[in-house]
Amino acid sequence: MKASLTGMEGDGFYNRHSSLQAAAIQKVLPLWRKVVDSTPTPGPDVRLVDYGSSQGHNSMAPVSIAIETLRGRVDAPASMEVVHTDLPGNDFTSLFRAVLENENSYLRLAPDVFPSAIGRSYFEQILPDESVDLGWNSWTLQWMSRNPAEDPDFLYGYMSPSPAVRAAVARQLDEDWRNFLGLRARELKRNGRLFCLFSSKAHTGSGWEWIVEAAWSCVLEMRRQGKLSSDETLKLNLPLGPRDLDDIERPFREGGGAFAGLTLEHAEIVSSLDPFWIDYQKTGDAKQFGLGWKNFMKAVFAPVIKAAIDPRKDAASLCDELLDRFAERVSLSPRDTQHYVAVAVVRKGAAS
Ligand SMILES: C[S@@+](CC[C@H](N)C(=O)[O-])C[C@H]1O[C@@H](n2cnc3c(N)ncnc32)[C@H](O)[C@@H]1O
Repeated sequence: MKASLTGMEGDGFYNRHSSLQAAAIQKVLPLWRKVVDSTPTPGPDVRLVDYGSSQGHNSMAPVSIAIETLRGRVDAPASMEVVHTDLPGNDFTSLFRAVLENENSYLRLAPDVFPSAIGRSYFEQILPDESVDLGWNSWTLQWMSRNPAEDPDFLYGYMSPSPAVRAAVARQLDEDWRNFLGLRARELKRNGRLFCLFSSKAHTGSGWEWIVEAAWSCVLEMRRQGKLSSDETLKLNLPLGPRDLDDIERPFREGGGAFAGLTLEHAEIVSSLDPFWIDYQKTGDAKQFGLGWKNFMKAVFAPVIKAAIDPRKDAASLCDELLDRFAERVSLSPRDTQHYVAVAVVRKGAAS
């Protein structure tokens, strides 16, 4: 059995350590503003859904932009509903605190904005038919709905030495993308827009190779030392994979330009920034560089790592030890992680 996704590290840890994700979001906000501005909002009330919000910190900027943009229009809505969604095990307490207390919260912009949250996988329909004006979705769709293949040889099936494992990952990413789009197609109103940002790759790779290799070396080291068993190592298989433009466009191409009643309005690959490398260039502090990467990894992967460890063992300490080893390893030879995100904008309705 493989480790499955249980959400991000709780107690607001993801909120405090997701600057790498925030940097990519920052880059695509001008496009998001245009998308919001060109979306008709037929009723007096607008519903914006944030699919896979985690603890909310990185949702503040896109939601604020949507509110400002819509309020600036002649047909400004009377009220706006903001629905944050994530898996049931998500740290929704930190999400609600961020919405109520964060100094950058979109709630400070207007009194007629109403937040709520839903704890349910977006691989199900989670809102009524034709009820969503705008969908925002950042940094979630690289997580697969399930781990499609056992991979004894690597941490990340997409980079597995086994062609069969890589093919299974590619099939799962394709199935998940179609499934996600089909469900959102039901929820969106006519001419409603969905904006997705997720991990991507260029012809040179995803950019994450050296980071994943460093983490895998630490796993193998702990297995050699008897701290992790073969079974735990096998479960330490991260259910993630990037999509390129071809992957994004395939369902639309095969459908003669439309998929499930949706049109792909825009797709591009954007190269993103590594905030830990940017800081390191300023400070020369390799230890801090390692710590930045450790906290990023802990925020995203600690729950999956802990779930892979035999419950009779001290999973939290073993996870910490693995991440400490990883921090030390990357701090020995700091380098820039040139990684990529894909942006896809879809509209409900035929091409105009
Ligand atoms: C890396 S966080 C991204 C959070 C935030 N959107 C951002 O941009 O920083 C990924 C989030 O996707 C959520 N997620 C993954 N699969 C999901 C699913 N099937 N349904 C709902 N949320 C999911 C995870 O629980 C996690 O909170």
